[in-house]
Amino acid sequence: MIVVTGATGNVGRTLVRLLAEAGEPVTAVSRNITESDVPQGVPAVAADLADPASLRPALDGADAMFLLISGDFTSAVGDPSGVIGDLLDDAKARGVGRIVLLSSQGVATRPHSPSHGIMGQSIEDAVRRSGMDWTILRPGGFASNAYAWAESVRTRRAVAAPFGDVGLPFIDPADIAEVAAAALRVDGHVGQVYELTGPALTTPRQRAEAIGDALGEPIRFTEQTREEARAQMLEFMPEPVAETTLAIIGEPTPAEQRISPDVERVLGRAPRTFADWARHNAAAFR
Ligand SMILES: NC(=O)c1ccc[n+]([C@@H]2O[C@H](COP(=O)([O-])OP(=O)(O)OC[C@H]3O[C@@H](n4cnc5c(N)ncnc54)[C@H](OP(=O)(O)O)[C@@H]3O)[C@@H](O)[C@H]2O)c1
Repeated sequence: MIVVTGATGNVGRTLVRLLAEAGEPVTAVSRNITESDVPQGVPAVAADLADPASLRPALDGADAMFLLISGDFTSAVGDPSGVIGDLLDDAKARGVGRIVLLSSQGVATRPHSPSHGIMGQSIEDAVRRSGMDWTILRPGGFASNAYAWAESVRTRRAVAAPFGDVGLPFIDPADIAEVAAAALRVDGHVGQVYELTGPALTTPRQRAEAIGDALGEPIRFTEQTREEARAQMLEFMPEPVAETTLAIIGEPTPAEQRISPDVERVLGRAPRTFADWARHNAAAFR
């Protein structure tokens, strides 16, 4: 049986569906999960990763786990390596032998950032030390970050964002889920660190246009200043996270703009484009 944490999120929700469709026994976990969040027949277990004991009921009979440590969690517990270490010890003691961690490209590209590099490295180190067979996924920016524009698109057919002409190879979270499913189910991914990106650079202006194309209506794009964007981000993220995020979207390093071959290597097909993501998720912007 495979335990999927973060099971109601952008990646986890798709991962649970893919595993269930493939006939894998799967248990879905998040703090507020209910039966209505999961496909019929999939057990939903409410647990908080900050309290490893709450995860135990989900681990009964598990042999593999998808681990997603969200920003909520790291803000709540500070340095998460101790709690994660306990959680991994518990999982191993209960028979979990394989773990797939959703990490971040920032671990490699922003090693000195407290939120992305230092915190992310400490979580990866705990997984590497766990004694389980591990695979680490390091995605770049998610296409689903565009949900932040959903309200302004719905109500005003408008998007305001900074760095309108800076391109990044955003990835469809459904592709991350598909790579995770492969790493959980198929041998050959143990000890691998996959860097996951989309197939092409897209700028915020182009992403807004792609959402407009998916809706069949033009979207007005306004470029925010860095300060305007920073003030908006600080409403929902801690300052170090906002600073590193602004650095990535404003002054990406060559590594952050590189198209990685890893999605295609694992899945045998090219990653989905941002336009694909916008078409599949247009309902959120109508
Ligand atoms: N967005 C990006 O551009 C980007 C780029 C690189 C890496 N990442 C990484 O991707 C991950 C986010 O993935 P996502 O977009 O799929 O997530 P998401 O949509 O934000 O969902 C987060 C999931 O985690 C659950 N969760 C949050 N805190 C929890 C806790 N303490 N215990 C148990 N479950 C908890 C949430 O459900 P409940 O609220 O019900 O608990 C939800 O299912 C993060 O690790 C982030 O660092 C993101």
